[in-house]
Amino acid sequence: MARILITSALPYINGIKHLGNLVGSQLPADLYARYMRGRGHEVMFICATDEHGTPAELAAAKTGEAVDAYCARMHEVQADLARGFRLSFDHYGRSSSARNRALTQHFAGKLAENGFIEEHSEKQVYSIADGRFLPDRYIEGTCPNCGYERARGDQCENCTKQLDPTDLINPRSAISGSTDLEVRETKHLYLRQSLLKDEIDTWIDGQSDWPILTTSIAKKWLHDGDGLQDRGITRDLHWGVPVKKGDAEWPGMEGKVFYVWFDAPIEYIGATAEWADATGKSDKDWERWWRSDKGAEDVRYVQFMGKDNVPFHTLSFPATIMGSREPWKLVDYIKSFNYLNYDGGQFSTSQGRGVFMDQALSILPPDYWRWWLLSHAPESSDSEFTWENFQASVNKDLADVLGNFVSRITKFCRSKYGEVVPEGGETGERAAALVVELETRVRAYETHMEAMEVRKAAAELRAIWAAGNEYLQSAAPWTVVKTEPERAAAMVRLSLNLVRLYAVLSEPFIPDAAAMMLEAMGTADRSWPGDVAAALETLPAGHAFTTPDNLFRKITDEEREDWEKRFSGIRS
Ligand code: 2FM
Ligand code: ZN
Repeated sequence: MARILITSALPYINGIKHLGNLVGSQLPADLYARYMRGRGHEVMFICATDEHGTPAELAAAKTGEAVDAYCARMHEVQADLARGFRLSFDHYGRSSSARNRALTQHFAGKLAENGFIEEHSEKQVYSIADGRFLPDRYIEGTCPNCGYERARGDQCENCTKQLDPTDLINPRSAISGSTDLEVRETKHLYLRQSLLKDEIDTWIDGQSDWPILTTSIAKKWLHDGDGLQDRGITRDLHWGVPVKKGDAEWPGMEGKVFYVWFDAPIEYIGATAEWADATGKSDKDWERWWRSDKGAEDVRYVQFMGKDNVPFHTLSFPATIMGSREPWKLVDYIKSFNYLNYDGGQFSTSQGRGVFMDQALSILPPDYWRWWLLSHAPESSDSEFTWENFQASVNKDLADVLGNFVSRITKFCRSKYGEVVPEGGETGERAAALVVELETRVRAYETHMEAMEVRKAAAELRAIWAAGNEYLQSAAPWTVVKTEPERAAAMVRLSLNLVRLYAVLSEPFIPDAAAMMLEAMGTADRSWPGDVAAALETLPAGHAFTTPDNLFRKITDEEREDWEKRFSGIRS
């Protein structure tokens, strides 16, 4: 049994996330966590809301709430939606927690002690029209690296380069659009990442199994241009972790806070400590996941995130950890995703274009979305949500293949033998071939799940469902029963056992349907199939079951057209 620490990128607190955000980190992380638990490993699955920074301040100002009240409220909204999508976090924390504050200040103190922090008098952009310093994200302009015209002051979303606002060409305020900006002096702390460049480089070279999408982004920022740049880690804001050196004041830094990207990844650790607090555990219990000197040396740590987050997780956060010169756990594997587009364009929060998490759950149950999103995860390239494709996947894979199989076999058995697994008979050659096929497919499914090849795993699972459906179709116990009732009984027994097997295998993708299938089969036996032939004898003759309601319903053409209009972002 292994111990696996899994973190999903932390969603920003402001606003409800769309399906593209969901499939870029939290959902595949959940898939992996559920799979690993299913395999009997000890899993710690962590997420949290990313609460600091200007976006939260501005969103709160809009609703008229105090920023802490706004964050508390929105955290509950997001936690509720996470439950709605069945995201099985061991803890869903908050980056504004006391734990994260203390840890962030601790890391800053250690970094300073070890010479990795530099104080800088800095020129910062002040907007005369807005009457305030403009934080990075609120300055827009042209990216000096790729020429993209709507780059933000912290990062260009087109080429992923981390930026400083003063790098932008033709800068303007994203709040007012004003170009009446001036540069003023203020003192800030810098993380001297450049001193850690070789160490990070060596560490990344040691990660031979990382996906190209991850390492190529990291390598680009390590080696392109002037190489790894030092990063400002403080801001002139009110809302955030106050700048301190451990517990001590930091002279000259009064009234400043750490940059949100400095404290956010530390919250992976913070949220694990919050988990301990929330469940009555001790510090030892969370430290054994994070401190190599306290039991974490054999933990495998896997992070999930969208590609825009990769530089922060391959460079800045590792720099924080390495620079502390304390034995904190570094990530072992980073699974990163491309973007999901929406129906010929992008999801857009401001235009209300695309489907957001709350809307999705208001029209269909979570499994429908989980299945589509995961089976179309934007892994090797960006992918696109279209209603036609969504309707086709749900209707075919879920309703026609899996749902139909379960309903056909349970209804047939009920009508011929009653709601018990029938006894007697031998299944024959067709069944033997099915078992051989499933044996191969289940092992392939495991390989893809372990490698986090989400689409390939989904395709294999679909093929596993289809194999059972085809078997039932061609074995045709409803015909065989007329001449060889014993053989028909054996076919039914095998098929009912397939329902249980499908529940176990499918649980990471569609947990609600899996639970319904197990419940219908009258079993809590979720044991993973070591050997498919043996697994298909779990439910013995005479075992009682119930015939479930349809597991999935089909999406009609009218619904599809209606939803297409409703979520197009064009308000009529
Ligand atoms: O890009 C984002 O949505 C960030 N809120 C991700 C933070 S991940 C982590 F480092 F905290
Ligand atoms: Zn760019």
